[in-house]
Amino acid sequence: MNRKDFIKKGCNFCLLGTATILFPNLMGCSPSYTVFSTEKKNNELHLPLTLFEKNPLQIVRVKGLNFDIAVHKKDNDFIALLLQCTHAENEVLPDQNGYSCSLHGSRFNSNGNVIKGPAELSLKKYKTTISNNHLIIRI
Ligand code: FES
Repeated sequence: MNRKDFIKKGCNFCLLGTATILFPNLMGCSPSYTVFSTEKKNNELHLPLTLFEKNPLQIVRVKGLNFDIAVHKKDNDFIALLLQCTHAENEVLPDQNGYSCSLHGSRFNSNGNVIKGPAELSLKKYKTTISNNHLIIRI
């Protein structure tokens, strides 16, 4: 390999590394989800079930709540989790296996259970029911 080829290959690796850092979604590292904004009424959130036809994972942004709620439809079950790390209250984000915290590296499965510390407690889970084509989350 001559000097010109060496420099050309080195630049290609640098570009790939930069793209991985800047655009992780393009590299297949992040799950697909949509963000739904709403307000709570009588300590309940009402989400149209049609939301989950497009995407089984919804991130619910609630006015007045400091952290989002992830709602994942699995078969006919819904799992609603507060995206607040139980270690030191940092935000957790969806990843390919569930949720992860960037502050100290805790990871949680899609049910909110700890799969890697330092967090020791599961993510906070909310009760859900279905009524009139809406998912009701009690917060
Ligand atoms: S705050 Fe999440 S791992 Fe420490």
